[in-house]
Amino acid sequence: MTPDPITTIAALRGAVAGARRAGPVGLVPTMGALHAGHASLIDRARQECATVVVSIFVNPIQFDRPEDLERYPRSLETDAAICAAHGVDLIFAPSVEEMYPAPLECHVDVGRLADHLCGRFRPGHFKGVATVVLKLFQIAQADRAYFGEKDAQQLAIVRRMVTDFSIPIVIVGVATVREGDGLALSSRNQRLNAEERQLAPALYRALQRVKSDVASGVDDPETLKRSAAREIPNDNRLKLEYLEIVDPRDFQPVARVTGPIVAAGALWVGATRLIDNVACAPGTRRV
Ligand code: PAJ
Repeated sequence: MTPDPITTIAALRGAVAGARRAGPVGLVPTMGALHAGHASLIDRARQECATVVVSIFVNPIQFDRPEDLERYPRSLETDAAICAAHGVDLIFAPSVEEMYPAPLECHVDVGRLADHLCGRFRPGHFKGVATVVLKLFQIAQADRAYFGEKDAQQLAIVRRMVTDFSIPIVIVGVATVREGDGLALSSRNQRLNAEERQLAPALYRALQRVKSDVASGVDDPETLKRSAAREIPNDNRLKLEYLEIVDPRDFQPVARVTGPIVAAGALWVGATRLIDNVACAPGTRRV
């Protein structure tokens, strides 16, 4: 049966308090418009937890562009049906007024982890993400929370926040779910028209190029970035916002590849901004 969405903080706290006697509570924070990527987080939570809570909240304070917030897809009914099909126990879908009855005076200050990649191009984004995630953790009181590797910088920031603030929750990272042509599933893919959809996997191909070059011994980030950029077709609908080679521990760009790195990129496809990342490990062969 489709669980009725819970809309108040008090009601969710009450429901979770009753449920926790049955065993661990798992939280899957989302902004809705659920797809198979979200479903894989839910499925993992279902395997590991007695109670699975999915939050659906399009968080205004993490949007840096008003038109992106306005255009963000909202589909609570379909989302609730997907949750039901994947065995979710509780859906938390609060209003903006419930989450932010007054403008916040206190925020999570993220620091260095937000300096590069999306943090550089979306001012305030990770401050808004970390703040809402902290709030959701406080509200849901879950034992475990599930995040996708698709948003690798977000995952690293959440992990660090949990360590720095001694939050008693286990963070589980889940592998990126992709279409057959490599395009990472994203709620924003819905906005692509048929031609843009054809162009969109270029980002994944560019990141895969970094992975294979790193594996074959290329260690200079500038060389890696140049060869990756050649995978992006010369088309005026495509604009590579960034493609960076960073250390997975601190998300700072590396001067040379000497160990595992993350290749991360953001590509504008028409009016839609897509992000993706691929973990890479150097091979032994030098070129
Ligand atoms: P949203 O974009 O809805 O994503 C919710 C979760 O699903 C995130 O942890 C994200 O990494 C994961 N996810 C999205 N696409 C995925 C894919 N293709 N494969 C695997 N996991 C995927 O990320 C957010 O919402 C928000 O910033 C949030 C954390 C909810 C805070 O508002």
